[in-house]
Amino acid sequence: MPTPKIAVITGVSREAGLGFETARQLKALGYAVIITARDLKAAQQLADRIGAVAHQLDVTSDESADRFAGELAREYGKVDALINNAGAFFDQGGQPLSTDMQYVRDALDTNLLGAWRMAKAFVPLLEKSEGGRIVNVSSGAGAFTDPVFGLANHQGIVPVYGITKLALNGLTVKLARQLQDTSIKVNSVCPGFVATYPGTEQWGARPVSEGARGIVWAATLPDDGPTGGFFRDGEALAW
Ligand SMILES: NC(=O)c1ccc[n+]([C@@H]2O[C@H](COP(=O)([O-])OP(=O)(O)OC[C@H]3O[C@@H](n4cnc5c(N)ncnc54)[C@H](OP(=O)(O)O)[C@@H]3O)[C@@H](O)[C@H]2O)c1
Repeated sequence: MPTPKIAVITGVSREAGLGFETARQLKALGYAVIITARDLKAAQQLADRIGAVAHQLDVTSDESADRFAGELAREYGKVDALINNAGAFFDQGGQPLSTDMQYVRDALDTNLLGAWRMAKAFVPLLEKSEGGRIVNVSSGAGAFTDPVFGLANHQGIVPVYGITKLALNGLTVKLARQLQDTSIKVNSVCPGFVATYPGTEQWGARPVSEGARGIVWAATLPDDGPTGGFFRDGEALAW
């Protein structure tokens, strides 16, 4: 029997979250899925529901990322898709000049450096795949073009969150550039505004399954697919 493709997803602690729906969709495609969260119990409960494997992982810790990569190296010897979904710090109503700098550091540590340290820890395992994929779950809040959450729109709401996602998109470009002579592709995906929290449908949020589909698209790109881009629903987004 051929070895299944292996996908690792960060930040899977909630049933309603994008991470779990992405795990469900990749499982349905035949992937062996490893879901991770800071709270192992939460990840384990979700993993049990879909026949996935759970691991504890805090993306703000170099040690946690390196230990996890080491465990997977011993257990599987490769990873085919790394989905950097963990994210936080939606500073609705915030303003740059009144934001506590510790909050900014914490937001960068999770939303930007989390994906960065995971890439550093996991590229050796992705190189063992025939076509490794890194998906950085980003946001229109990190682009100029988003009419609602965009960097320069509506008085620039969610400034810290937006700046971390802008930087994440920069990381995507730089990683893709460094890895251009390998079979690894690195892309940012905005899932759109999706209903991962109760009540957001009334503000126009779309079903989580639709947002996750674009993440799965980037995680399963064919060998001639793009790298270093920013996408929503498989379509390139302007920055
Ligand atoms: N929902 C949207 O409309 C939308 C739009 C654009 C982009 N996104 C992005 O989509 C991703 C998923 O968001 P979501 O809406 O599905 O919300 P969510 O369920 O709250 O997902 C965020 C996940 O990140 C985890 N996390 C936070 N800090 C972490 C850390 N240090 N280490 C490991 N995991 C950590 C959270 O776990 P804990 O339970 O431990 O906090 C949670 O599981 C995020 O990157 C978000 O920015 C969402």
